[in-house]
Amino acid sequence: MNTSKLFALGIAAAIAATSGTAIAADGAKLFKKKCGTCHTVQAGKHKVGPSLAGIVGKKAGSTDFKKYKALKGSDIVWDEANLDAWIANPKKFIGKATAMTVKIKKDEDRKAIIEYMKAN
Ligand code: HEC
Repeated sequence: MNTSKLFALGIAAAIAATSGTAIAADGAKLFKKKCGTCHTVQAGKHKVGPSLAGIVGKKAGSTDFKKYKALKGSDIVWDEANLDAWIANPKKFIGKATAMTVKIKKDEDRKAIIEYMKAN
């Protein structure tokens, strides 16, 4: 194998190794920008919206946040598909008014944000 081929392989391996982290970093940045005004990922730390610590797989409306509206008493479980639909269009997903007004239009942005929530 010649040197340039080895070099190309090295680059490919480096890209493969870092791409996972790149998604996580984007997710963190997007979360801060789009969700951080109203949410934290720290347990028990609510803002305008409830804490999202460990939210993936959790039952909706199940923290001790006092101001649930649309999600109060809901049967929804936050799997990835439900989270994706919720952050794409909360009102449409839940079918009633909610103080959660943000809409994340881009598929890849929602994916990155969900990956971030999975890790927190
Ligand atoms: C303007 C404030 C606001 C912003 C911005 C916001 N949210 Fe929310 N979010 C809320 C409120 C308020 C609720 C409770 C909704 C209800 O019960 O009607 C909520 C609920 C949620 C829930 C359900 C929590 C639970 O305990 O069931 C998830 C998940 C969520 N938001 C994710 C996000 C994500 C991800 C973003 C960023 C893309 C985001 N939110 C941006 C206000 C906001």
